[in-house]
Amino acid sequence: MEKSRFDINFNLTDKIAVITGGASGIGKATAELFLEKGAYVAIVDVKEELEEIAKSIHPERVIGIKADITNKNNIEACVKKVKDIFGRIDILFNSAGVALLEKAEDLTESDWDKTMELNVKASFLFSQIVGKEMIKSGGGNVINMASQAAVIALDRHVAYCASKAAIVAMTKVLALEWAPYNIKVNAISPTVILTELGEKAWAGKVGEDMKQLIPAGRFGYPEEVAACAVFLASDASNLITGENLVIDGGYSIK
Ligand SMILES: NC(=O)c1ccc[n+]([C@@H]2O[C@H](COP(=O)([O-])OP(=O)(O)OC[C@H]3O[C@@H](n4cnc5c(N)ncnc54)[C@H](O)[C@@H]3O)[C@@H](O)[C@H]2O)c1
Repeated sequence: MEKSRFDINFNLTDKIAVITGGASGIGKATAELFLEKGAYVAIVDVKEELEEIAKSIHPERVIGIKADITNKNNIEACVKKVKDIFGRIDILFNSAGVALLEKAEDLTESDWDKTMELNVKASFLFSQIVGKEMIKSGGGNVINMASQAAVIALDRHVAYCASKAAIVAMTKVLALEWAPYNIKVNAISPTVILTELGEKAWAGKVGEDMKQLIPAGRFGYPEEVAACAVFLASDASNLITGENLVIDGGYSIK
């Protein structure tokens, strides 16, 4: 009988990964774990101190590309730079995102637009531009950061929830269209993760109340989300595509 072959240690040896928003939080933890698993990583971020952050992770195997990815020309320039330096892209992790919170009746049009531009449009355009490259090179892996907010209503999160639900829908369509090209596309949906973004959105009483609603009774760590990304980026998950991997301590099962 024919057997499936994959590395049981989920190694990413010599894979080329691009991580948006990789200078902090979940993206940074994922860059560190991808590196440990043998990948080369290009971090794309707007942070001033990006160069130093990239170097501190690894001086040669990790590079920083400073860019605001809400601009399509910037995304094209990033992809070209990665190709010039590393030759190809095997893994794209769309992690950059923003959470602008307000009651639905008070949310400004500008905050709605900013949320959609980064969380949805930039993730789509990055996937589209890298996807074309992956089609040419024979395959790849795209991982999109969604959120528990994609599957459940959260107070003051109207734009964020809408943007993350859009990510899950987009993930399914890309997975459907690109499976014949050996490209798998998946999403990850965490509960509150202890990063700058997570701590800002869930500081104080709202956070303590939220923990009571999570059966596991705690928030997550960026490294736990990075572990999901490693699995989805590895050959061990080759038959999983269009999936939304929820990591929420059971919050959304009730
Ligand atoms: N932290 C949580 O609780 C949580 C939960 C569920 C989902 N998520 C999602 O995970 C992803 C990462 O979140 P995080 O908590 O690590 O956030 P974070 O704020 O720690 O990191 C986001 C990174 O994106 C970068 N960024 C912002 N705008 C950018 C732009 N225009 N161009 C390029 N880079 C830009 C920031 O500089 C930052 O380094 C987001 O998509 C977020 O919605 C987070």
